[in-house]
Amino acid sequence: MASRSRRKLVAIILAAGMGTRMNSQIPKVLHSICGTPMIDHVLASLKPLDVSQIYVVTGHLHNMVQKHVGHRARCILQKERLGTAHAVMMVRKHLQGFDGDVLVMCGDAPLIEAESLRSLVQRRRSHHTACAVMTTNLGEPTGYGRVVRNRDNTVRKIVEEKDTNTYEEKINEINTGTYCFDAKALLRALKDVSNDNAQKEYYLTDVVEILNEYGEEVEAQVAEDPTEVIGVNSRRDMAMAERYLRRRILNRIMDAGVTIVDPATTYIDHDVSIGIDTMIHPFTIIQGNTVIGESCEIGPAVTMRDSRIGNNVRVRNAVVEEAAADNDVTIGPYAHVRPGTLLRRESRLGTFVEVARTDLGEKAQIPHLSYLGDAHIGPECYIAAGTMTCNYDGSSTHRTEVGENAFIGANSLLVAPVRVADGAQAPHNSLVDESKAEKLSTNALRPSRKRSRKTAAGKKSSRTRKSSTKKKSSR
Ligand code: UD1
Ligand code: CA
Repeated sequence: MASRSRRKLVAIILAAGMGTRMNSQIPKVLHSICGTPMIDHVLASLKPLDVSQIYVVTGHLHNMVQKHVGHRARCILQKERLGTAHAVMMVRKHLQGFDGDVLVMCGDAPLIEAESLRSLVQRRRSHHTACAVMTTNLGEPTGYGRVVRNRDNTVRKIVEEKDTNTYEEKINEINTGTYCFDAKALLRALKDVSNDNAQKEYYLTDVVEILNEYGEEVEAQVAEDPTEVIGVNSRRDMAMAERYLRRRILNRIMDAGVTIVDPATTYIDHDVSIGIDTMIHPFTIIQGNTVIGESCEIGPAVTMRDSRIGNNVRVRNAVVEEAAADNDVTIGPYAHVRPGTLLRRESRLGTFVEVARTDLGEKAQIPHLSYLGDAHIGPECYIAAGTMTCNYDGSSTHRTEVGENAFIGANSLLVAPVRVADGAQAPHNSLVDESKAEKLSTNALRPSRKRSRKTAAGKKSSRTRKSSTKKKSSR
């Protein structure tokens, strides 16, 4: 990889700030935007680039950030926070003799995209300037450093808001805090940065003017989409970043062939993956590492987190967490699918059903008003309305096993630990414990497993055909 571009590239992410305006007990860069901590967004933007080393400058709550970052980058402690240039100075000893490019970014700018970083680096390299800085134009530039240009359009200096004069204050072009430096030029200029300014800080932005004094050139790369370079300093900024990123995620998902009926009420996390021709209905939240297959219908009003959903699955008005559903499963309306649950192919969970740590067999059904916890339900079982597993005895939980093709009548209690045999028939209103389970009749109320299997094959294909044509025509 390194052979492709001769020059090496390292990245420095500045993340030592107190994040005072966040008013938080956790470091700013660990706050999440669309389900992913800000620092992870920044690290992800560097991934497609050929970066040989990433340094994260940490200070406030250093250990928390370091633990989170792990092996992905080298964390360098900035004991005293004396400004952004001072933060970069912390990395200086690692850059001695380094003859390449240094990308400097802010840990609190989570929306930056790899493509913009790549062109920033390319610009500096192709124009052989000492620095290329990413800027953008904002109608409301308050809070950002302003970009002052030379007559030849190169950048003369960046003035922090608190140091602006009345003319500079009105400049709409702002510094995004993302730069690509020639390493040698950066190291040289850092030595001349002073803290003679309104905030008594060592500003990295001063490097720009210093380079000009050396006779070096600094170029600006103007980001066309200002939402990409937003810096998060407060929870209000976070909400704004969340809105922009959410829209970006939804657009990406729609472009990949997923219908989102109402983007305004749909919240999908950054790492979620959704298959083609799936339809997401309003008021739906899909979080974490959820993977959804093709041709599903999710929502309205579904909250789903860290779950794995197959193809052609229908989920309505439900909460699904750390669970899995195979192809052709139906969930809800009004179901709670809790962690550790596996719903196998063509199984069905109906209205007001809660399941936890349960393996529901193929074509098994729990159509109404039931609670199953720590259960293994065999294929083609029918669990009638009002069935409960009594899985918790006040101190520990126990398992319920129901064999294949069993029938549990309405309003029954399965007192765990209990094992119900294949084909067993529990009448309505049963209290099934281990001893009673052995006495249950088998196959008295339902057709035998053999018979149902025979008919099931023919029936099944016609049923699925019907349901799939129905779905097509409804779209
Ligand atoms: C900085 C820029 C400003 C730019 C803005 C973009 C400077 C002086 N100003 O301002 O021109 O418009 O970003 O968002 O660079 N940090 C450290 N150590 C420190 C101080 C800061 O690591 O001693 C880190 C912070 O954690 C943060 C980043 O540097 O991630 C920027 O610092 P911040 O204080 O947010 O600077 P701004 O005032 O936003
Ligand atoms: Ca900032």
